[in-house]
Amino acid sequence: MNNSPRYVPPPPPRIYIVDEEVVTVQNLVKTLSKDGYVTEGFITGQNALLQVRDNPPDLTIMNVNLHDGDGIDLMQRMRAAAPEMEVILITDHPAIDQAVEATKKGAFNYLKKPVKLNTLCKTITDALGLARQKRRKNLIYQGIHGTDHFGEIIGAAPAMKGIFKTISQVAPLDCSVLLQGESGTGKELIARALHDNSPRRDKPFVSFNCGAFADELIANELFGHEKGAFTGAVSTKLGLMETADGGTVFLDEIGEMPLPLQVKLLRVIQERNFIRVGGTNPVAIDVRFIAATNRNLEKMATAREFRQDLYYRLKVVMIELPSLRRRTEDIPRLASHFVHKAATRFGKSVPILSRDILIELARYSFPGNVRELENIMERAVALCQGRSLRLADLPPDILCQTNAAEQIPSNAPPTEIRDLEMDHIARVYQETGYNQTETARLLGISRTTLWRRLRKLPAKSH
Ligand SMILES: Nc1ncnc2c1ncn2[C@@H]1O[C@H](COP(=O)(O)OP(=O)(O)OP(=O)(O)O)[C@@H](O)[C@H]1O
Ligand SMILES: [Mg+2]
Repeated sequence: MNNSPRYVPPPPPRIYIVDEEVVTVQNLVKTLSKDGYVTEGFITGQNALLQVRDNPPDLTIMNVNLHDGDGIDLMQRMRAAAPEMEVILITDHPAIDQAVEATKKGAFNYLKKPVKLNTLCKTITDALGLARQKRRKNLIYQGIHGTDHFGEIIGAAPAMKGIFKTISQVAPLDCSVLLQGESGTGKELIARALHDNSPRRDKPFVSFNCGAFADELIANELFGHEKGAFTGAVSTKLGLMETADGGTVFLDEIGEMPLPLQVKLLRVIQERNFIRVGGTNPVAIDVRFIAATNRNLEKMATAREFRQDLYYRLKVVMIELPSLRRRTEDIPRLASHFVHKAATRFGKSVPILSRDILIELARYSFPGNVRELENIMERAVALCQGRSLRLADLPPDILCQTNAAEQIPSNAPPTEIRDLEMDHIARVYQETGYNQTETARLLGISRTTLWRRLRKLPAKSH
């Protein structure tokens, strides 16, 4: 596991280029790739249409005159398949009535070939801006009016729909958000969605795992240090707060933050500035904070294990993520999503999810939540040999546990379910020869989470 802070940039925009003239396609692909776009070129309209249907880009730049079809007609078919995509049409023989028709039918612009590079770059930037705006509006619409997903976050359970609505309401605001939920419930995915739907979306999203660093290193990672701050500090180092300036800082596992650092963090949130290790001058920053935890911070605050003032600063908005076993209705949709994802990654055809498999999955208690389901489906797709997944493609201990789970009524008190999970964890731990890394991988949970759970097991189990 790589524990260093991560800056996860948004994916680069994707542009398709369609022209019968191979040189034009090659030149544009080369120039636009240099500008950081992901590009793909096509010399026939039909191939481009197929690819748009399969894998829609953000923008298509297309010559109107193609041998295998009328460019305007093709554009309409493409936009029906990918409504958020913009199209820039290019022509060797411009005509007023065609220009009018093109814009009426949805082209972003209609340009005469050869197009000056400056003009093209400006038009591309504007078209991509519009495409992004449409996508955002769509996401927000879906979040409010309810579908079974918000971008790539899947969920049709009422609790998830409520979360989608909250995301669309609070993402654009600059308030702190606290995400609370068990390991693997999607906290980081939601943090990312909050950032992507905020005005900070083009600035860094920097994630920091508070549980992954020794106490004395945290300040250095977060705030950086001045040259000469300690032996070995040969130059000034920027901390994560400065790297994230203008963007979002995601403080993962905030419950693991040591108390002395909580005081420093509170200061940053209140004063919007901080002092580098070994420094004296405050450095001003503009960041939004999103924090996540799988612990109960309120209880920790009452027990004085977490500062109450910081807790209130962080939970201006609190989003509680339900465990997967509390939203079993989402399992089939999620399972199918992960099967598609894995099959695409492995270059295999997408196998069918049989009813048997879905029944087994619905009975299982998923201590590792969505991440565990993702790992299970990925493993199943890797093992699958026929056209559909078989029960044998599921890990054997799931089948074991689902048999045990059958004896528990669905409204069983949470303690019984917790016991069952603990048994499952203990069994996997024993089977791996008490290898924590392997156990965490199989369960789809982080090593920190595993370690925390193992601490709760009776001594004989580990
Ligand atoms: N609702 C969802 N729809 C689609 N994918 C999801 C969903 N929830 C989680 N995932 C996927 O499950 C995996 C785990 O999610 P994520 O890392 O966000 O969990 P987490 O709550 O941050 O876990 P941890 O506490 O262990 O850090 C990721 O691959 C994520 O993309
Ligand atoms: Mg996480």
